[in-house]
Amino acid sequence: MPTCTVTRRVHFNAAHRLHNPERSDEWNRTTFGVCNNPNYHGHNYELEVTVGGDIDPASGYVLDIAVLKTLVDERVAQILDHKNLNLDVPWFRDHIPSAENIAVFCWEQIATHLPAGRLVRVRLWETPRNYVDYRGE
Ligand code: NI
Repeated sequence: MPTCTVTRRVHFNAAHRLHNPERSDEWNRTTFGVCNNPNYHGHNYELEVTVGGDIDPASGYVLDIAVLKTLVDERVAQILDHKNLNLDVPWFRDHIPSAENIAVFCWEQIATHLPAGRLVRVRLWETPRNYVDYRGE
């Protein structure tokens, strides 16, 4: 049976600050630079969620992309869009909201809720030039 991957892209914007309260202010400034700005800063994020699996011969689908759209909208975009990640999203109280950790958050929000297929990759673009990939490992 042929397999295929299906990808949904979603946009959100959010503010964050990279800061580890267990380290000194100097360590934070050195490590995070301008991303340690105390009053936060924002990004226009692009998230790509890729699901892989067998093509169901009855539907021709790996999964219904409308279902994936709804899942990503409800479990990621509505939670992160127009939010201050540090202050508004409880998961980031104990995770620094780096692109890497945001990708892990998105994975955890989606992976166990798929009706078919399996999550194979989450790609998060933090700027038009920088992205991170997370594959659940
Ligand atoms: Ni940033």
